[in-house]
Amino acid sequence: MVYKYTFGNPFETESVIDEHDEINRINCQLQNQNLAFGNVSINQNLLQNCNSSIPSLGLSDFAFKYNYRLGDDDLIFGLGETTRGINKRGFLYKSWCSDDPSHTEDKTSLYGAHNFLIVYTPAGKTNPNPKAFALFFDYPGLLQIDCGYTSKNDLTVSAPSADINIYIIEENHSFVLNAICKTFRKMIGKSYLPPFWAFGYQQSRWSYYTADEVRNVLKNYQKAGIPLDAIYLDIDYMQGYRDFTIDEKKFPNFAYFVQELKDQGVHPVPIIDAGVKADPEYSVDREGIEKGYFCKKEDGSVFTAGVWPGKSHFPDFLNDEARAWFGDYYNFLTKKGIDGFWNDMNEPALFYSEDGIKKVFAELKESLDDTNLDINSFFGLRDKVARLANNPKDYASFYHTVKNAAGETQKISHDKVHNMYGYMMTRSAAEALQRNLPDKEILLFSRASMIGMHRYSGIWTGDNCAWWEHLRLSLRQMPGLNMCGFLYCGSDIGGFGCNTSRELLLRWLAFAMWTPLMRNHTAAGTRAQECYAFEQVEDFRQIISLRYRLIPHIYSEFVYARQENELLFKPLCFEYPDDKIALQTEDQLMFGRSIMIAPVVEPNARGRFVYLPEAMQMVFFSSSACGLESGLPQITEMEKGVHFVECEPNQVFFFIKKGHSVPLAMPAPCTAKLNCNDLTYIGK
Ligand code: GLC
Repeated sequence: MVYKYTFGNPFETESVIDEHDEINRINCQLQNQNLAFGNVSINQNLLQNCNSSIPSLGLSDFAFKYNYRLGDDDLIFGLGETTRGINKRGFLYKSWCSDDPSHTEDKTSLYGAHNFLIVYTPAGKTNPNPKAFALFFDYPGLLQIDCGYTSKNDLTVSAPSADINIYIIEENHSFVLNAICKTFRKMIGKSYLPPFWAFGYQQSRWSYYTADEVRNVLKNYQKAGIPLDAIYLDIDYMQGYRDFTIDEKKFPNFAYFVQELKDQGVHPVPIIDAGVKADPEYSVDREGIEKGYFCKKEDGSVFTAGVWPGKSHFPDFLNDEARAWFGDYYNFLTKKGIDGFWNDMNEPALFYSEDGIKKVFAELKESLDDTNLDINSFFGLRDKVARLANNPKDYASFYHTVKNAAGETQKISHDKVHNMYGYMMTRSAAEALQRNLPDKEILLFSRASMIGMHRYSGIWTGDNCAWWEHLRLSLRQMPGLNMCGFLYCGSDIGGFGCNTSRELLLRWLAFAMWTPLMRNHTAAGTRAQECYAFEQVEDFRQIISLRYRLIPHIYSEFVYARQENELLFKPLCFEYPDDKIALQTEDQLMFGRSIMIAPVVEPNARGRFVYLPEAMQMVFFSSSACGLESGLPQITEMEKGVHFVECEPNQVFFFIKKGHSVPLAMPAPCTAKLNCNDLTYIGK
């Protein structure tokens, strides 16, 4: 059963598209309401007094509050791209797409806004069968989701305004968690399907500065015999960080260069940023201004803020015409043979606004002669500058021009629809690519996201670090992302910030060989992170070759998960709902219909403890004995229970459920050369 509760006059997000008849619609006006699970209270005073344009991030009093009393044993799943565990209980999250490269566990928001969560009550004394219900808050502004943080048994979801749709999903099923996800995924529509080559291994760095540097990366991969399908072009391929331009000095004869790479099975994938350089000499900016397609301030002037190119303007992606206009520019690159893009800085990230920086500079000038700073003045000075970036006041200071249901044009302040920006930027690209190249499959993924965007692209989990903790985090993020519809996902393998180590990169690859997006990416200034930069390159070759051997299986599980609205990565308890240990296992995942993975995620480990919720077949690829590249693995039957499995960084193991087998292809240098008809099946 699905219930839809509508409060006030919600903004249409198009997150839910399948409004099938079984939805029980309840119009709640703007009043307190008991829902199928939990209740909503609305603070009329706050509603009336709330300055409609500034429900800022710091707000502690919310006009809208949903509350559900959690049982002591309840678990919370979902919430997509967020910090901490698979079970979200015990922390407070804020749904607010944030450009924050420091994904420490105290962070309440990352780049995505994924307002779907499931409350799960395992079987217990009072309930012989497990129970669950899910909530989806269809709301594009700031949402605070307190999962028993303020008060341990209260799940409280709060919003500054009360214009919101809440969907509650209840299922009666022995695999209730899975059944709920399936219903939700059906409601939000089919996930994006990338081209086949996007399942190959991909190499990135901020930046490969010239065409020759890119050629060199490819040459080194070829020399090391490591398969490769894509090399990324970060912001430095452009002229002064201007979208849809190419620096011809560094990348001469771009179309020829693209073809040269593609002839060798490698796709160059350029980045596109949300901010358009403010420059009257630059046609994209000029046209955007002339047509009125950029976001505007209250007085009607164009909103200006600094990002990579300095002062920039921000396309009004919520406006249909502006969206179509920006999307058509991707043609500039597809005409040169490009068939993959990553959309970035689309929260949107703002280093500073023009107004904000003027104010801070004026204040700084005033205090210029004072060099005797005490605790308050010193930290005050530092915070003044630090708070320039991604400031809530700036997000509340600009507007989108949208059409309402009656077709009338209306202005809406950005903070109220903030979480839709990256979604709509990516939709702009996807719709235009579909319109202009209907027969072409194009790789597209984005940093910022909201549920709904999963129909148009994948995501990567942004600027993580070369920390073991972030390897563990990326594993724990995958099921939550899948629940929210994002199937084509992955993290920056090896870590984006900080210097990686050989061991961390190998272990990360051994996990990421399961993620549909398998991309090694790192920040400017870090040590070389390409696999060939490390000793005993054969270890890297073998793990990546194994990924290629598994691509036929990974791809077919992906297509199945997409078609059937299933999860590709599941927490163990989704499949073993009565198993108390499975319920608490957060470092192993079910993959597709037949595999369980248990990656090694600790430094200096020579193996790990693994929990088997039932007897399974362990598949062990040892580089020396069986060969990761073309040999066959050892297969051992293992009993239900806890086992210690020894596994060196150049080895890989996983489990196949009894009665299932998995196909292995022969290794190939790129997906174009993969023979999917010559398969050997392992397991029985
Ligand atoms: C952002 C992206 C990162 C990229 C960098 C430069 O930090 O998240 O992936 O390398 O910008 O474009």
